[in-house]
Amino acid sequence: MQNHTVRNSVSAAMLHALEAQQLETSHELTKAEASSVYHSARAIEQAPVLVLVYSPLRSSQSGGSYALSDLQSSGACMQNMALAAHSLGISSLWICDVTYVAQRINELVDVRNHQLVAAMALGYTSPDADGYVAPRRSLTNSFLGSM
Ligand SMILES: Cc1cc2nc3c(=O)[nH]c(=O)nc-3n(C[C@H](O)[C@H](O)[C@H](O)COP(=O)(O)O)c2cc1C
Repeated sequence: MQNHTVRNSVSAAMLHALEAQQLETSHELTKAEASSVYHSARAIEQAPVLVLVYSPLRSSQSGGSYALSDLQSSGACMQNMALAAHSLGISSLWICDVTYVAQRINELVDVRNHQLVAAMALGYTSPDADGYVAPRRSLTNSFLGSM
């Protein structure tokens, strides 16, 4: 989505729902979750491109058997986009926080019978960015350490 107005509306909807505590969730957000929504909204505002990933809404008869594969397909789609962007020197941010305002986004882009799974913001990192990279655990700690 390169439509500046829609992207700004998505971002504004997230910030407004956060402020008014009207996010589509049954639990109260932790400080970290609220901070993530705020920063995701800001990233959406600043990135030149936002890709919204939708999955079909299945009927109750067929839904169960497809739900898991739909989820895996969406995850693979997101991962492939991130890898393809990286190979082209484009930065990406995987954003699930958009699901907190899924109904509003569906209205904005006029999508029905589909479920918003996630969004991918794409753009070029500013030369002024601090270049923060989250600390990495070694593979040994990630796999063997947890056994
Ligand atoms: C399933 C999934 C959902 C994510 N949702 C968000 C999000 O809503 N907001 C956000 O800022 N980052 C989100 N991220 C990005 C992560 O916070 C993290 O920055 C990203 O996975 C890059 O990891 P790295 O720090 O190891 O490079 C998400 C990542 C994944 C895999």
